[in-house]
Amino acid sequence: MSLNVGSLQRATEVFHASFGAPPEIATIAPGRVNLIGEHTDYNEGFVLPIAVDRYLCVAARGRNDKKVRVVAADLNDSDEFNLDDLQRDEQVNWRNYPRGVAWVIQQNGIELKGIDAVVASDIPMGAGLSSSAAIEVGFALTFLHFVQVDVPRPTLAQWCQLVEHKFAGVQCGIMDQMIALLGKENHALLLDCRDLSHQLVPLPSGIAFVVADTGVPRTLAASEYNIRRQQCEEAVKWLSETLGRPLKSLRDVTIEELGQVFNEMPEPIRRRARHVITENNRVLAFQQAMREGALKRAGYLLASHASLRDDYEVSCRELDAMVNALMSVDGVYGARLTGAGFGGACLAMVREDALARVLEEVPKRYAEELGQNAPEPNLFAVRVSDGAWVQTL
Ligand code: GLA
Repeated sequence: MSLNVGSLQRATEVFHASFGAPPEIATIAPGRVNLIGEHTDYNEGFVLPIAVDRYLCVAARGRNDKKVRVVAADLNDSDEFNLDDLQRDEQVNWRNYPRGVAWVIQQNGIELKGIDAVVASDIPMGAGLSSSAAIEVGFALTFLHFVQVDVPRPTLAQWCQLVEHKFAGVQCGIMDQMIALLGKENHALLLDCRDLSHQLVPLPSGIAFVVADTGVPRTLAASEYNIRRQQCEEAVKWLSETLGRPLKSLRDVTIEELGQVFNEMPEPIRRRARHVITENNRVLAFQQAMREGALKRAGYLLASHASLRDDYEVSCRELDAMVNALMSVDGVYGARLTGAGFGGACLAMVREDALARVLEEVPKRYAEELGQNAPEPNLFAVRVSDGAWVQTL
């Protein structure tokens, strides 16, 4: 696949300026938006993300030693490290992604060679479009290219997830890395996070997807995210003891079973469990509706936002205001927060012929909802893209 990618052009230009020669390859990795299935991935549940046409690019050239030099074109920063001595950088977060990726690949027995690289990105930061998964898979495919090793993409996704755990400190699930590697144009990816089995779900025509960034960065995301994860583990433990059978995850509990013990179950873990279990059901219903072209039914299921707000408590005032603003415009099938929450963006599914009106009306209504000091929102339509690829330059 070859596209007119802004970050590719910037990365190539900065590569020339930094290293005095052209790059040999560029790896392009997309951002992602999750249509439905939020906070289900680390509970061995279902998710339905799409890869989108906002890209990160790693332009690179191979070296014959163990040195890695990386320039971050958008941050005016650079890093240099040796593949024989990979350490976390405690001060500068982005540096942990190339370092962590090199570390995880070598941990798995593949000896890497040094590279010179420039990374540039058009994926908005902090909006919840997973620029971090994009930088992980971007560097992973780049490093592997120069040693000519092919790793199956689901395995590579797991390695990149480990980078997030060990080098970035977020106990994330597997969704972001899987979609960044396995996305397909005009399709969503139905992923079973229990065994990583996956299917492409064709998307009906006549709709558009809008990302509506609230303008509020996801500040609490890392700490609160890890707390939610622990609460789900507590819920599994409580349910195992109460239901009297060993459970591996919330995936093993039906909504009927939860209903039987819900009143005795402590707060907040009973609401956390209810979100996860009902959300899994909504993912399956949503993908079925999309296959059938039943857009109203699919849109209705995006009311999953209420469950994220009330049961999982990962929304915030601005995300709620954005959902209200979106839902007040004719032609919006449904809207919900997307990604981890605590700020960031909403996703809306919109009738294609209503797109222009949505982009124009919603910022005004968002400002009305929030009154004075409303943050500046950023709304844009996204196209459904392919997963990451390497192109020779
Ligand atoms: C973040 C994580 C994902 C997933 C979502 C919530 O994006 O990286 O693994 O858990 O939050 O659905």
